[in-house]
Amino acid sequence: MYLRPYQPGEAEALWRLLRDSVHRIAIAHYTPAQCDAWAPAAPPQGWGERLQQTPTWVMEAGDKAVGMVALTPAGHIDLLYTAPSHQRRGIARALLHWVEEEARRLDLSHLTTEASLAAHGFFIRHGFEALRCQAVQRHGVELHNWVMSKPLGDDARTPPSSGGTRASASAL
Ligand SMILES: CC(C)(COP(=O)(O)OP(=O)(O)OC[C@H]1O[C@@H](n2cnc3c(N)ncnc32)[C@H](O)[C@@H]1OP(=O)(O)O)[C@@H](O)C(=O)NCCC(=O)NCCS
Repeated sequence: MYLRPYQPGEAEALWRLLRDSVHRIAIAHYTPAQCDAWAPAAPPQGWGERLQQTPTWVMEAGDKAVGMVALTPAGHIDLLYTAPSHQRRGIARALLHWVEEEARRLDLSHLTTEASLAAHGFFIRHGFEALRCQAVQRHGVELHNWVMSKPLGDDARTPPSSGGTRASASAL
């Protein structure tokens, strides 16, 4: 598996990854209508620009994108998705470890995110604190998520699961 930067031209493939992840994983925590509002069939306007403008990394396995993460310059994890076919193999952990190191390189003091109900446990497991649950609107439908934060002090490191940009199969 390889972790690499987002490449222009794969926006539609990454939307399919997000959509599959929402409709097959997050569906355990949201209604079908909420999942449709969160991840409709077609990418929202500006999806490609969002991937282009927010530093985004892709985990690739056999020429296929199986995970993605995006980190704003302020340290906000904007996207974190693993393909349903590759759940629970350490991909999100490796992606989080990468952005955490990136945030340290940027000398940021915290990582923040708005975690879905499906991802709340993952972030708690990796040292994030849940600050509050909030309601957000997606295409006129209300969904809940968690505002979460993690300090980046030396005592708050995510245990590394990959060294650098190449992740071993055993780690993933
Ligand atoms: C949340 C998500 C990204 C996790 O991806 P993943 O690649 O399956 O997670 P990992 O395999 O890297 O998990 C790493 C660790 O976190 C734990 N973990 C993963 N998901 C978890 C969850 N929902 N609750 C509690 N722990 C979880 C794993 O057990 C594993 O623990 P370990 O280190 O002891 O083995 C994935 O389930 C997903 O895409 N969910 C649907 C979309 C979504 O909600 N995305 C987040 C938007 S904010």
